[in-house]
Amino acid sequence: MKTIDLLTEQDTIDLARYIAPLLKAGDVLTLSGDLGSGKTFFTKEIGRELGIQEQIDSPSFVLFKEYHCGRVPLFHLDLYRLKNEGELLDLGLFDMLESGVTLIEWPELAENLLPYQSIRLQFHFDGNKRWVEIFPDSEHELYFT
Ligand SMILES: Nc1ncnc2c1ncn2[C@@H]1O[C@H](COP(=O)(O)OP(=O)(O)OP(=O)(O)O)[C@@H](O)[C@H]1O
Ligand SMILES: [Mg+2]
Repeated sequence: MKTIDLLTEQDTIDLARYIAPLLKAGDVLTLSGDLGSGKTFFTKEIGRELGIQEQIDSPSFVLFKEYHCGRVPLFHLDLYRLKNEGELLDLGLFDMLESGVTLIEWPELAENLLPYQSIRLQFHFDGNKRWVEIFPDSEHELYFT
């Protein structure tokens, strides 16, 4: 596990710049943390680094959005309003997971469906200071020591 302070937005941008080049189709990042802790902000920067020029905004009301104009397809899920896990299966979750890079906000709501191998990011904001804890999957471990 690695803890990184995100004192400014630039720190979050720098983190996305570090992580994005490591990603390939099939990689899953789960983004945990309270409302406003920076999950969507981070996702936007990952998208930018993957070369996606479209505006990436919060998919809360549609559960997910997909972007196909970057180096690799990006799927951005926000499960905050997920009613049941079946809903995700109907959206084609498993096809998504294998055909692109998938970032998932509020992953706790579908824990049983998500692959064991994922890079877990836990965002924190105590009202003053921001930081993230990163739990890499075995494949990416060496980049987060
Ligand atoms: N260091 C930082 N890293 C990320 N975001 C920051 C930072 N400092 C300030 N912010 C601001 O904090 C806000 C984070 O909001 P964001 O939408 O990313 O949260 P979220 O975790 O996705 O929340 P939700 O659970 O509601 O989807 C943004 O408005 C962003 O500009
Ligand atoms: Mg969000």
